[in-house]
Amino acid sequence: MTGGNRGLGLEIVKALASAGAFVLINGRNQENLDRAVTAVKSLGGSASPLQLDITDEAAVEKAFNSIREQYGRLDILVNNVGMRDRRGLFKFEMDAVRHLVETDLIAPFNLCRKAAQLMIENGEGRIINITSIAGSIAGAGDAAYTAAKGGLEALTRALAAELGTYGITVNGVAPGFFATESNADIVADREIAAWLQKRTSLGRWGEPKEIAGAVIFFASTAASYVTGQVLAVDGGYLTHF
Ligand SMILES: NC(=O)c1ccc[n+]([C@@H]2O[C@H](COP(=O)([O-])OP(=O)(O)OC[C@H]3O[C@@H](n4cnc5c(N)ncnc54)[C@H](OP(=O)(O)O)[C@@H]3O)[C@@H](O)[C@H]2O)c1
Repeated sequence: MTGGNRGLGLEIVKALASAGAFVLINGRNQENLDRAVTAVKSLGGSASPLQLDITDEAAVEKAFNSIREQYGRLDILVNNVGMRDRRGLFKFEMDAVRHLVETDLIAPFNLCRKAAQLMIENGEGRIINITSIAGSIAGAGDAAYTAAKGGLEALTRALAAELGTYGITVNGVAPGFFATESNADIVADREIAAWLQKRTSLGRWGEPKEIAGAVIFFASTAASYVTGQVLAVDGGYLTHF
């Protein structure tokens, strides 16, 4: 579970652990990782920290080798890490664009490949990519993130096509507007709350724990014949006008 030590990722981790999964929680900040492991344990679940930067290919390679040695299998990969940079088109340095695309698309691509290798050996597996409503629609001033998330959705379909015969499903979950820490400044903004009230069918921000059901569905046997899909969890944002 990448990026599982806070935000939407932590809610997904807690839901997976509550459903009986042993979860390797990834992130860079060790303190937050320790807190996440403690939170899972206090729910009666089991988890271990996996501290690495997903853009560090050597660290990822090492981690997958140790997963193979220690556990011999990987049943579910959730690619949740995502960074955003809302500077306008002409304010980006190209290095910042590369860093964002590396984090939001290329590193998840690599993780999908590594996970698929292990899953193929087991004859089954579930890959779930956390995209965004920005994967299918766009607003001004968000080009790099939108391009990366659109790419992640396309990757989800491409891998579903390529890995289906190995018993591996690949699906995506596209969050809308969630009241996470990373959105704390805009969650407090009354104008944005009023706009969301009109703009979404449910008329409100998503609560972080509301992301988890879609992931649990794709990870469960209930979704055994579902692949290549991206499910928006957005309070109706994409379908509302
Ligand atoms: N929040 C929303 O409303 C919203 C809307 C649409 C889509 N999304 C998508 O949903 C996902 C989660 O969003 P969020 O708001 O919960 O994000 P967040 O609060 O910014 O959390 C990001 C998580 O990823 C980890 N992380 C970041 N870069 C990493 C790296 N290079 N290597 C390893 N871990 C890394 C962070 O932990 P460390 O800092 O410890 O590494 C943290 O656990 C993202 O993909 C985001 O694009 C969110």
